[in-house]
Amino acid sequence: MTADTQKQAAGEAAAELVEAGMIVGLGTGSTAAWFVKALAARGLDIKGVPTSDATADLARELGIAIVGLDDVKRVDLTVDGADEIGPGLSLIKGGGAALLREKLVWEASSRCVVIADAAKRVKALGRFPLPIEVVRFGHVHTGQRLADIAAEFDLPPPRLRKSERGLVITDGGNLIYDMASGRIEQPAALGEALKSVTGVVDHGLFLDLADEALIGTDEGVVRLHP
Ligand code: A5P
Repeated sequence: MTADTQKQAAGEAAAELVEAGMIVGLGTGSTAAWFVKALAARGLDIKGVPTSDATADLARELGIAIVGLDDVKRVDLTVDGADEIGPGLSLIKGGGAALLREKLVWEASSRCVVIADAAKRVKALGRFPLPIEVVRFGHVHTGQRLADIAAEFDLPPPRLRKSERGLVITDGGNLIYDMASGRIEQPAALGEALKSVTGVVDHGLFLDLADEALIGTDEGVVRLHP
């Protein structure tokens, strides 16, 4: 089974959790896209809250009614992918630069289900570089403060994310620094330190947020709880 087939299986299993009338958080990335497609195929009367412009476009294309986060009091269920799934369903997210809207929607949700292929499971977070979203103004200074924090945690300085088209700009108009580490020994402490920097909008550590994981494996979809 390829990683993509595993992602598809996880996305389709998650779509079965949705019931008519629900407000559904729609994640971002290739795994979440499988979920959105499977959800649209069910034809349920639901409303989706997209976590990125890309997901909003996909949902619209597939005929899913979409609303903004502030149009609803609460999201019943959010389904989203992850870059890494560590102990206790701690996560690294933001590989697709959508971490801020994702975290806002997750925090407004009664239930959060993370979907992924088997390779996303790790013994300790950190193999995937941790994305940190920062405002553009003074970002070089912010980057220096992030490097200081990285040094305190014995990690190398974060790098500004660029693509072949130049700096990567998030849907919120911000920049991303990626902190490659190998292994994050104290995710909660690191997360707090990063949030204390004025120019930081948020980071991709999703701790104590996922209620359940659906992982596509060669033996079928495995269900995990924290
Ligand atoms: C988007 O910013 C991320 O948080 C994605 O959820 C994450 O990168 C997973 O993406 P894939 O499903 O494409 O692996």
